[in-house]
Amino acid sequence: MHLLLPLTLLFLAFFSFQHEAIDYTSMVFPVNKHTDAAKPLYSMTLMTAYVNVQWHAKFLIDIEGPFSWHDCVLVWNSLPKSSCPNNKLCAGPISCEEFECTEVRTSYSYDSPSCPPINNSSTLPGWGYCTCPVNVMNPVNGKCTQSELNVDRFAANSSDGRNSFLAYHGINLHAACAPSSSFQSFPKNVSGVMAFSASRYALPAYYYQSWIKTSLALCLPSTTSSPGVLFFGEGPFYLLPHSDVDLRSLLSYTPLLKRPDSFSYYIGVNAIVIKQRSFEVVENTTARLSTTEPYTMLKTDLYHWVVRRMSMVTKRMPLATPVAPFSLCYRMFFNNGTLVDLSVPDIDFSLQDGKNWTITRDNSIKHVTKDVACLAFVDGGAKTEQAIVIGTFQMMDNFLLFDLENSTFGFSSSLLKMNTSCSNFNFTNSFETYPL
Ligand SMILES: *[C@@H]1O[C@H](CO)[C@@H](O)[C@H](O)[C@H]1NC(C)=O
Ligand SMILES: *[C@@H]1O[C@H](CO)[C@@H](O)[C@H](O)[C@H]1NC(C)=O
Ligand SMILES: *[C@@H]1O[C@H](CO)[C@@H](O)[C@H](O)[C@H]1NC(C)=O
Ligand SMILES: *[C@@H]1O[C@H](CO)[C@@H](O)[C@H](O)[C@H]1NC(C)=O
Ligand SMILES: *[C@@H]1O[C@H](CO)[C@@H](O)[C@H](O)[C@H]1NC(C)=O
Ligand SMILES: *[C@@H]1O[C@H](CO)[C@@H](O)[C@H](O)[C@H]1NC(C)=O
Ligand SMILES: *[C@@H]1O[C@H](CO)[C@@H](O)[C@H](O)[C@H]1NC(C)=O
Ligand SMILES: *[C@@H]1O[C@H](CO)[C@@H](O)[C@H](O)[C@H]1NC(C)=O
Ligand SMILES: *[C@@H]1O[C@H](CO)[C@@H](O)[C@H](O)[C@H]1NC(C)=O
Ligand SMILES: *[C@@H]1O[C@H](CO)[C@@H](O)[C@H](O)[C@H]1NC(C)=O
Repeated sequence: MHLLLPLTLLFLAFFSFQHEAIDYTSMVFPVNKHTDAAKPLYSMTLMTAYVNVQWHAKFLIDIEGPFSWHDCVLVWNSLPKSSCPNNKLCAGPISCEEFECTEVRTSYSYDSPSCPPINNSSTLPGWGYCTCPVNVMNPVNGKCTQSELNVDRFAANSSDGRNSFLAYHGINLHAACAPSSSFQSFPKNVSGVMAFSASRYALPAYYYQSWIKTSLALCLPSTTSSPGVLFFGEGPFYLLPHSDVDLRSLLSYTPLLKRPDSFSYYIGVNAIVIKQRSFEVVENTTARLSTTEPYTMLKTDLYHWVVRRMSMVTKRMPLATPVAPFSLCYRMFFNNGTLVDLSVPDIDFSLQDGKNWTITRDNSIKHVTKDVACLAFVDGGAKTEQAIVIGTFQMMDNFLLFDLENSTFGFSSSLLKMNTSCSNFNFTNSFETYPL
């Protein structure tokens, strides 16, 4: 009967249901990989309010965006009779006179030269105020769209780190409603962007001082066929078959850095090491972490060194014509009908405090066709300000913990070495709880 529960009741209740026997420590979301857009992208599935048809929605995971936005329509008079159009998600408007509007527009906005100037022109019929237009930047095609700031409500299942439970946790935040046309370039069925950045209007800021810890655990799957997992909250965290290993015990930690001019997260990198040779980067180099860049981008000198070093240590392996955007590709070969795995050395990112983020073959070599595989790093250009941007190919099947409370970043390196993967969270539970 839970699906029939009136949604307004659900969201008016604003509770987080604690089952007596279970210690919920986080909100949990399935994470899907999408390969049907211009680049591979990852979404999280959440539950939406004011729904006429949609119960679950998929939002891109963006750890850099200043605020969240999705395909929705502003309605101010939702009660008693909903004025939300059919097949649409609706949210309440923020007026241009409220301080949140000014604050988002002046300090927490998407910043792109392609964005048109914003204005106060729009009003809602019957509502005596101006709405709050804000620009949002589409992470798929880089286009800027005017959207409207709102008061939004979502819900998540809760977790004890082992299973997912239908014990709703409300997520109330300011997001923005963008027109449906902005999502045409998105992967199919993905209709929003959830921001997890350091911005005051991204999701983590709304949990400051709540019982949910401001900590994001991200485990991106390598396959489109089974979901990975995202936790917002504290550990423990478990992946099958290791029901007795809290993933936090496998992590190495490095400081999670922020910069005053950006909402992104950074880690300090000293060198990149391939088979005992290292490229020492300029002092205090930081790597930006991105969930919308598919491949790690390296500044040209660094990129050339990695490619040269990798070709040197793999010179017995047959090369293939490079497939853009990559420049070092190998021909795969078969031995008695079986694909022989390329043997490439690990790439170590030697971090600020001596820890290594080890990139093994699964995170360095991408199979682009049946018999061609490429080194999955891209040239970020000679003039780029950011020497290193770590992309999702290098994050897949790694357990990553952004502890925003203590500003530390935990990373496991490849989980495959531990005989598990990001697709191994146990989403089934033995019983269901209802929000009554
Ligand atoms: C929008 O209207 C508000 C309130 O009248 C005003 O403070 C603000 O400057 C206006 N913004 C723009 C971009 O016109
Ligand atoms: C407000 O901005 C939108 C989007 O940039 C534009 O289409 C519209 O013409 C603008 N309205 C006014 C009154 O300037
Ligand atoms: C929440 O949990 C219920 C019950 O296990 C499940 O059917 C539903 O798909 C889950 N929703 C999300 C967004 O994970
Ligand atoms: C999109 O959602 C519809 C309805 O839930 C489903 O039938 C379809 O398979 C989904 N498409 C993709 C590409 O996930
Ligand atoms: C931050 O560190 C403190 C002390 O070690 C710990 O109790 C707390 O749980 C940490 N925060 C998170 C989000 O893990
Ligand atoms: C590197 O960082 C340290 C500590 O923040 C600072 O003292 C030093 O001046 C920085 N070096 C450079 C070259 O920026
Ligand atoms: C080649 O594969 C076949 C069938 O998988 C197997 O029977 C045979 O022993 C293999 N030969 C060698 C030399 O490995
Ligand atoms: C990191 O990797 C380098 C080179 O591979 C190695 O010399 C060093 O001992 C490693 N550090 C740790 C803490 O494992
Ligand atoms: C992973 O599985 C392999 C083969 O089953 C085994 O040899 C290895 O010890 C396992 N490693 C871990 C960390 O469990
Ligand atoms: C997944 O969790 C459920 C509920 O706790 C449990 O019954 C089931 O055995 C677990 N699955 C595996 C493969 O351990």
